[in-house]
Amino acid sequence: MKKYKIGYTVGVFDLFHTGHLNLLERCKEQCEYLIVGICDDNYVRDIKHKEPIINQEDRVRLINALKCVDRAELVDYKITDDKMLALDKFGFDVLFSGDDWKGTERYNRTEEQFAKVGVSIEYLPYTQGISTSDLKNKIKNY
Ligand code: CTP
Repeated sequence: MKKYKIGYTVGVFDLFHTGHLNLLERCKEQCEYLIVGICDDNYVRDIKHKEPIINQEDRVRLINALKCVDRAELVDYKITDDKMLALDKFGFDVLFSGDDWKGTERYNRTEEQFAKVGVSIEYLPYTQGISTSDLKNKIKNY
């Protein structure tokens, strides 16, 4: 029996790498059913000010194919920013995130909201030394 029944996490997951895999495997260790929100291409353009390398449909396919993921679905900016909307949509009992998000305005706000409705937040260790941005830089300098 795992600690949680339904877990949720969200991210862009562009140029899928082992930092992403570590996060998703650690999420699945703690929940029976893992739902992953995939930020849409407009989110990447508007918020990260980058053009995605792998388009949104392909990013959803790749994450859905993982053994540790039960369901991956596209999410827009509103659902990514306002985790109460994500909670309404997916009905999870824990939100997982890499600990690089701890202390940000978005997650401080979510912690307050979730405390009132009894939903947990678990921060998982960010994998040092790899990221989508690092990979893009390496390819650029290749
Ligand atoms: N993540 C992680 N370890 C990494 C990279 C990402 O744990 N080395 C986690 C993030 O904390 C987030 C999820 O994976 O919960 C999705 O992150 P995303 O922003 O899609 O990946 P990055 O590689 O960090 O992308 P970028 O370099 O564009 O910021």
